[in-house]
Formats: sequence, structure tokens, C-alpha cells
Amino acid sequence: MVYVSRKEHFNAAHKLYNPNWSEEKNRQVFGPCANANWHGHNFELITTVKGKPDPETGFVVDLKQLSTLIREHVISRLDHKNLNIDVDFMQGKMASTENLVIEIWKILEPKVREITEHGQLHSLKLYETPRNFVEYFGE
Ligand code: NI
Repeated sequence: MVYVSRKEHFNAAHKLYNPNWSEEKNRQVFGPCANANWHGHNFELITTVKGKPDPETGFVVDLKQLSTLIREHVISRLDHKNLNIDVDFMQGKMASTENLVIEIWKILEPKVREITEHGQLHSLKLYETPRNFVEYFGE
């Protein structure tokens, strides 16, 4: 089994704010992430596909196709957007990196299957900052 990864980048704004809580509790739990007027992050998304190399191409997945797919279906919907307001698939959810990576998985998993016979989506790693990141394996 070979694990093939592609890194893509986007910028997005958000805030972490639970409307069911008081101002004080939001500040306690989320700190400056609860700031009313938003803040931004430089996100890095690492998509990993696993599989056996195709005997004819030697590829598990064509990285050019994988990149195009990620940009078309994910990056274009997130880049320079406000996660709380602009992004349809984040409506009604807390705009955390955890929730975001789950939604990205739901979009990419079936799309990846369309471009590779020998591979499948293995993991998504989403960096919110160089030091804070989440990983998701689909369950
Ligand atoms: Ni934040």
C-alpha cells in the first residue's frame, strides 16, 4: 500500500461562538477566537490517498487530477471566505477545524473514488496554524 499526498492552501475567516452561551462563557471557552469581528487563518489541507500503483501508469492516483479535484470542490468554496457566513456546508455548525475537516471529507471521499481505480481517500490533515492541526480518517 502506498500513501500519496497533496497539499493545498486556502485563507478563511471565522469565529468560534456558541449563541446558546453567555458572552462570558464564550470568552472563557474560546478566548480571542470568539472575537465578534472575526479573524483569519492560513489553512493547509493535506489530502492522502492510499492504494496500489496502477500497473500501466505506476500511479496510485494522478496528482494533477487530485489537485484539480480538491481545488474545484473544496478550495474554491473556502478560499477568502467567512466559514460562519459564506460556506453553505458549514451552516448551522460551529466553525471549528474539527467540523470543517469532517465536511471536507464528505465532499472529497466520493470524488476521489471517481479518479482512481486503485486508491481511496485515507486521511485529511487540516492545519489551522503551523502548530494547530487536525487529522481525520473518515470515522
Ligand atoms: Ni480561529
